[in-house]
Amino acid sequence: MSLNVEMLESSFALLAPRADELADRFYDRLFRENPQLRAMFPEDMSGQKKKLISALALVVANLRKGDVLNEAVGALGVRHIDYGVKREHYPIVGRTLLASLGELAGDLWTPELEAAWADAYGALQAIIFEALDRHSAAA
Ligand code: HEM
Repeated sequence: MSLNVEMLESSFALLAPRADELADRFYDRLFRENPQLRAMFPEDMSGQKKKLISALALVVANLRKGDVLNEAVGALGVRHIDYGVKREHYPIVGRTLLASLGELAGDLWTPELEAAWADAYGALQAIIFEALDRHSAAA
């Protein structure tokens, strides 16, 4: 699958100045729609919000570098095992991220942009699931 890198980069550049608002909206929505996930996270979410934004920025900065993305995102996925995260949680987070981006982007959120972000998240999820497969095969 080829990602719409230019569209992802330019839309993220537009939204980056409002990254704190994106993180607020993301976790508000995640916990409102999936209250059972709240207990997995620390009570004080300020550090986690910063980590989410940094991770998104890292992904967008490395969209053209498949090997960097594979390495960093695969390792991130394996670390998530220890946080109690299951594969079934990834689509929930993906839907929540897309909805939050859409809210923030407002009128700029076109079906094309939504598809670009859905493809990007799908690619991340695939990298993570492959890393989890390798991890469990090695265990
Ligand atoms: C591609 C999707 C995701 C990204 C980019 C991401 C990003 C991150 C980052 C950067 C951290 C900081 C710790 C570390 O780097 O190891 C983290 C921690 C964490 N994430 Fe994710 N995450 C993703 C998916 C998920 C999913 C699906 C869940 C399930 C609800 C989840 C729950 C958590 C939890 C519980 C922590 C640890 C919080 C703590 O105890 O400090 N993440 N995530």
